[in-house]
Amino acid sequence: MTPWCAVKRSRALLAAPRLVGMSLPSRHILAAPAWPYANGPRHIGHVSGFALPCDMFSRYQRMAGSQVLMVSGTDEHGTPIQVQADTENLGPRELADRYNRVIADDLFGLDMSYDLFTRTTTRNHYAVVQEIFTGLYRNGYIFPRVTKGAISPSTGRTLPDRYIEGTCPICGYDSARGDQCDNCGNQLDPVDLINPRSKINGETPVFVDTEQFFLDLPAFTEVLGTWLQSKSGQWRPNVLKFSLNLLGDLQPRAITRDLDWGVPVPLDGWRDRPDKRIYVWFDAVIGYLSASIEWARRSGDPDAWRAYWQSGDAESYYFMGKDNIVFHSEIWPAMLLGYSGKGARNGAPGSLGELNLPSEVVSSEFLTMEGRKFSSSRAVVIYVRDFLARYDVDALRYYVAVAGPENQDTDFTWSEFVRRNNDELVATWGNLVNRSVSFAAKNIGAIPEPGQLTDVDQQILEHSRAAFGVIGGELGRSRFKAAITETMRTVAEANKYMSDQAPWKIRESDPDRMRTVLYVVLQLVDDAKTLLTPFLPRSSEKVYRMLGGSGAWSGMPEIRQVDEDDAPSYPVITGDYGTAARWESRPIVAGTPLAVPTPLFTKLDPSVVDEELARLEEEQG
Ligand code: MF3
Ligand code: ZN
Repeated sequence: MTPWCAVKRSRALLAAPRLVGMSLPSRHILAAPAWPYANGPRHIGHVSGFALPCDMFSRYQRMAGSQVLMVSGTDEHGTPIQVQADTENLGPRELADRYNRVIADDLFGLDMSYDLFTRTTTRNHYAVVQEIFTGLYRNGYIFPRVTKGAISPSTGRTLPDRYIEGTCPICGYDSARGDQCDNCGNQLDPVDLINPRSKINGETPVFVDTEQFFLDLPAFTEVLGTWLQSKSGQWRPNVLKFSLNLLGDLQPRAITRDLDWGVPVPLDGWRDRPDKRIYVWFDAVIGYLSASIEWARRSGDPDAWRAYWQSGDAESYYFMGKDNIVFHSEIWPAMLLGYSGKGARNGAPGSLGELNLPSEVVSSEFLTMEGRKFSSSRAVVIYVRDFLARYDVDALRYYVAVAGPENQDTDFTWSEFVRRNNDELVATWGNLVNRSVSFAAKNIGAIPEPGQLTDVDQQILEHSRAAFGVIGGELGRSRFKAAITETMRTVAEANKYMSDQAPWKIRESDPDRMRTVLYVVLQLVDDAKTLLTPFLPRSSEKVYRMLGGSGAWSGMPEIRQVDEDDAPSYPVITGDYGTAARWESRPIVAGTPLAVPTPLFTKLDPSVVDEELARLEEEQG
């Protein structure tokens, strides 16, 4: 692998843990957003539940002084990729190449501050997946078993679960898929479907014996239970309740498939078989680990990942939609435990060593669009790239923070988007910045020297400083809605202070007081831009510059082309996020020159709502 350039390397190596003694040791936080399937461009339903919340969390944690490692990538194996490859008349690898690039662009456009956004088709990923499989196998947590697999009688080819349709044995829905029922949400096995039929040509599949490997989930019931119980009061209640419920009935789970696209099974007699591959979910969750290892190698310190996975006080936060909970709160922890030799059968850690369990599984609910479920196939979507072509990225980030599906299924409507953009971003925050900086620029030309502060001045400055503790507390617990709401309340207070003090009325009569008021307002603006940085990195950077800041404030990602030895190159998202931004009130400096600013946000015409609704109808029709 080509390492990052030398500059990058030295930053990684000089990171805080090596300076212990000079400052408090900082927390090591792995931030792990779910891996999108490389089967299409992202729409905003995809990114509102995992990517954007994780980025807000990571940006806050970095500002609060933690060492953060945010890794993810595209999920490129399994039936979801094969189905789409067939539709587009491509091979699975070509399809994955296509959408890896598209998705990296989408996420880059959202200012997602990944330390590494990679993919699951790297050699490194294959090697790490096979190592985990082997470790689990050696410890006795993986065993072979003969099951029933579906094949097409006319072609003799295996029919993956998703290609089979039939009546749900649980709710009676007549278009249930072999892997799950979209009506009642239950996970299914194709043999259980009533009247199963092939989605390709309608014929009835025949079920034949096939040997697969299974992960012995029941061997982890006890240790998973103890671990989950210890999270009570910390995790979102819905996630914990759902996970504890599953424990009652853990069954061995097939982790190989009759497929030719995926990671080969690393056992003699299996390695070279063209028809057996590791199940996509087994490989995908290992991505968090393999990407951490890839990141470490590329930063020039191949062991740097260990600080995020093995030290006793390392923390890890996984962000995903609710349909992914089981994989992150049961299956991935079971894999980590088994590899570390900590299930009912004990065992010894594999060559990577013992690996930490998630500190928290942060799951969000679903976003619907104008009352309908987001669905690419039915075109009830707005794609990220189309959204960003027409609107500011921070307008979307703001909407997701304040009105996203954090705790319940939530409907995205264009009218609400326009209202929040215009009334909250533009009229509240944008307006405060604009009127305060413009007035100070025109009348003084610089940040003024304050005179004597009144009680009112001192009180509002104190409120603003105190907001860092409160809002930081919410962000640290992934309560984005509460955090942004409180932030906007402090912005509203600053607006009210400015209106009450009306510096424009005392320009002639009391210029000293006018300067003091402006000084206070500008300090409030500076604080608010810091508080808003995790949510609105791009516009906060602008405010930082307006008030005379130099160098980078919000770390911004970049896309780089990398490779592994002689393998084809691929794009990754990475970045240098070690900026000046700290989660604290930074005293503004009197005398700093000010210019009349350009508006921070774009006000949207209400006609946008009808235009967008018309687009939706058009695409659906
Ligand atoms: N690709 C899966 C999905 O879109 C998510 C995988 S998350 C991972 O539902 F952790 F497994 F990578
Ligand atoms: Zn059902």
